[in-house]
Amino acid sequence: HLGQTLSFTGDPFVEGPAAATHSSRGGVLIEGGRVIATGEADALRANHPGAEMTDHGDGLILPGFVDAHMHYPQTAMIASWGKRLIDWLNSYTFPEEMKFADRAYADEIAGRTLDLAIAHGTTTLTSFCTIHPGSVDAFFEATQARGMAGFAGKTCMDRNAPDGLRDDARSAHDDSEALIERWHKKGRATYVITPRFSPTSSPEQLSALGALWAAHPDCLMQTHLSEQVDEIEWVKGLYPQARDYLDTYEQHGLLGARGLYGHAIHLEPRETDRLRETGAGLVHCPTSNTFIGSGLFDMATRVAEGQRIGLASDTGGGSSFSMLRVMGAAYEIGQLKRNPIHPAQLLWLATEGSATVLHSEGEIGRLAPGAMADMIVLDLASTPGIAQRSAVASDIWEALFPTIMMGDDRAIAKTYVAGRQMKG
Ligand code: GUN
Ligand code: FE
Repeated sequence: HLGQTLSFTGDPFVEGPAAATHSSRGGVLIEGGRVIATGEADALRANHPGAEMTDHGDGLILPGFVDAHMHYPQTAMIASWGKRLIDWLNSYTFPEEMKFADRAYADEIAGRTLDLAIAHGTTTLTSFCTIHPGSVDAFFEATQARGMAGFAGKTCMDRNAPDGLRDDARSAHDDSEALIERWHKKGRATYVITPRFSPTSSPEQLSALGALWAAHPDCLMQTHLSEQVDEIEWVKGLYPQARDYLDTYEQHGLLGARGLYGHAIHLEPRETDRLRETGAGLVHCPTSNTFIGSGLFDMATRVAEGQRIGLASDTGGGSSFSMLRVMGAAYEIGQLKRNPIHPAQLLWLATEGSATVLHSEGEIGRLAPGAMADMIVLDLASTPGIAQRSAVASDIWEALFPTIMMGDDRAIAKTYVAGRQMKG
């Protein structure tokens, strides 16, 4: 595959844009679904004269986007407006998630979500499911059918949720364990132990899931942390012994390097210390944080602390399926915090940064020898408004940034999953 290429040789939060290498005529060589070589187009062609060639012209070849936190069961209720977190969950989210008792509905929405992801250039989703084990089967069957990497788990809730949407401590543990046996490390599936958040789990349920994680330490764990101020107050009331919100997880064995903590906006110093010490993953969900009115994630401070950070759409709390739009929102929140985020950093968060918090060991989020060939081709002139701006750009970042701010699925010219073309 020949075109423009951009790849990271370091961390752009440490090294700045020098961490990225741009070639206006580069290439990626794929065999058996994996990248086997990258480099300048002429050299690649000379070294591999027998290789079949696809020329993407001025298209920018990138790794597919990695969404580190979303809820596929909320696809059909995205953009449900007028409520803040707790009311939004009760009014819109829980009634929709109830429908996933029906396996056929779960299959339909899982397929629809993955097709939307591919159309928007996202090749890996990390998803919450519902309390129904069938919702997990639906998700992983749909990822496997498309050859995609999938990260997901059964959402566990045993209190403060309506009838029909509660499990209990034991069934959450046992159902999750059965799903681990069925799916974890099968093909490209990774099981993620998933307590929704402290308000919808009893301490007994959090303990049971902490024990499950200890028994399956190579699984990931995902939840929500300190998203809204009212939610934090509620957690304090529900867990009077806890030192802070993070402690409700920590005391129950749910804090660790393979833990993913969505939102993590309103943090106390003890919490940021413990997150950093354990190497936990903080997942920034900027379109959700503005849509639900949660607050402004302090990227610069978290980066300076040395936290691991990923980026995510959090659909349906997030208001867009596009990681371009998510990057744009992260930029806007950076501006409101008086710290503009460089496009190299935004792109890194949406690919390698998210892959790093998922502990993907270089399999996804980058196009380097050995990585899976999950790849997109970006059209940097996908609309007239974007095209007139990128036409006068003086470097790749100026050429790319209008697409980050104004682009949508039209900017995704092609999507490849494990080397197989899925769009364009
Ligand atoms: N906190 C607990 N559940 C959810 C959810 O589904 N979406 C968001 N944004 N926050 C949550
Ligand atoms: Fe979420």
